[in-house]
Amino acid sequence: MLMSSNMSNNSAIKFNNVSKKFRKGQKLFLKEALVDLFRPKGKGDFWALKDVSFQINKGESVGIIGTNGSGKSTILKLIAGVLKPTQGKITVEGRISPLIELGAGFHPELTGRENIYLNGTILGLSKKEIEEKFAEIVEFSGLGDFIDTPIKHYSSGMYMRLGFSIAVHTNPDILIIDEILAVGDMAFQNKCFGKINQFKDQGVTIIFVSHSMEAVRNVCNKVLLIYDGRLILTGTSDKVITGYLESINTQTREDNKGLDKDDLRRGDGKAKIIDVRTEDKKGSKRNLFAEEIIRISFKVKFLEDATDPIFGIVIKTSDDKVAMTSNTHLLGIKTGNFKKGTEKIVSWEFKNYWDNGRYSISPAVAYKNGLNFYTWRENSAFFSVKKPYSTGSLLNFPHFINIK
Ligand SMILES: Nc1ncnc2c1ncn2[C@@H]1O[C@H](COP(=O)(O)OP(=O)(O)OP(=O)(O)O)[C@@H](O)[C@H]1O
Ligand SMILES: [Mg+2]
Repeated sequence: MLMSSNMSNNSAIKFNNVSKKFRKGQKLFLKEALVDLFRPKGKGDFWALKDVSFQINKGESVGIIGTNGSGKSTILKLIAGVLKPTQGKITVEGRISPLIELGAGFHPELTGRENIYLNGTILGLSKKEIEEKFAEIVEFSGLGDFIDTPIKHYSSGMYMRLGFSIAVHTNPDILIIDEILAVGDMAFQNKCFGKINQFKDQGVTIIFVSHSMEAVRNVCNKVLLIYDGRLILTGTSDKVITGYLESINTQTREDNKGLDKDDLRRGDGKAKIIDVRTEDKKGSKRNLFAEEIIRISFKVKFLEDATDPIFGIVIKTSDDKVAMTSNTHLLGIKTGNFKKGTEKIVSWEFKNYWDNGRYSISPAVAYKNGLNFYTWRENSAFFSVKKPYSTGSLLNFPHFINIK
């Protein structure tokens, strides 16, 4: 028998030359929208995906990685049917449980309990099915009594707990997860990864988008790398992640001086990080450290008035493991109020106890307890550590060995 029907039996998701066009400025503020009215038609077209083809087989766990704005979420929305392709063909087989945006399919005024019914119905469960699974969903979420609180009072982690718990209790054939696990605490993230592994064993197809390469490596056997709307690399997780990290390192090195490129920036843009640098304790610029004081600083410019913003940094190793997280909120520091146009330099100072290697700095300015970002620059500067010997671990600090 000839094949095409056979092939599609095994295929869960198939993209044939898929392109997606948005009108630029579709989501603009009023003023910009007015300006947009006077632009010649057609000029604002923007191709978020260009001629993308791939096939994901049933039971595969596939990661999609790439810089901000490269088109990952657009692919997921096309798979979930939330968006339609402008060109090309998409075939999806099976029941999908999409976790694409935090709080999508929820109503803020309703309680967690009511939202389980609402969201469950959207995902195609009958009232009876939801009733049967209700206790399990609440139990898994760990939300306890908060299940009867309107979810507009939930933290982003609580939203995620509810969304994930519902999604995994709908018996999906295909589970789609976009990024959102990152807002859960460690304990719940572990629980999610446990559940995802269980799904993998049961043959559920998993599509996983994350900026944590460690998480992608753990979940996925195969990875797609998207760059500027194009699929540029597919293969084993190791191969594609290595390719991606190499491409980012080159890109950010070029970018270190003028931090103005948009592709590594996220947040709503109400503040701008202008200069990220590492210095010795005297304030001289330095990129290489032994066991000594490191000072990390960035300059932030507020483009809107800001009330008690949170300044933070994340330091990561070259294989994308978090080596340090610090912010003013964690340390209980009130930062004050800043008028539009104000510039501040924020700096961290500490002794370098890390082992040899190359480290990246991702600075951010956040608000509302860190749930929202004015700006967040992923991997915007680098430094290296070189000590007399390497421990082969993350840390290398002074200690004693006694022999009696
Ligand atoms: N509804 C829309 N209207 C106009 N442009 C859009 C729309 N949705 C996405 N875009 C644009 O399409 C591009 C791809 O966006 P997408 O959300 O897929 O990126 P992403 O890879 O998920 O990024 P991130 O890592 O930041 O989540 C971006 O330039 C984005 O601005
Ligand atoms: Mg996205």
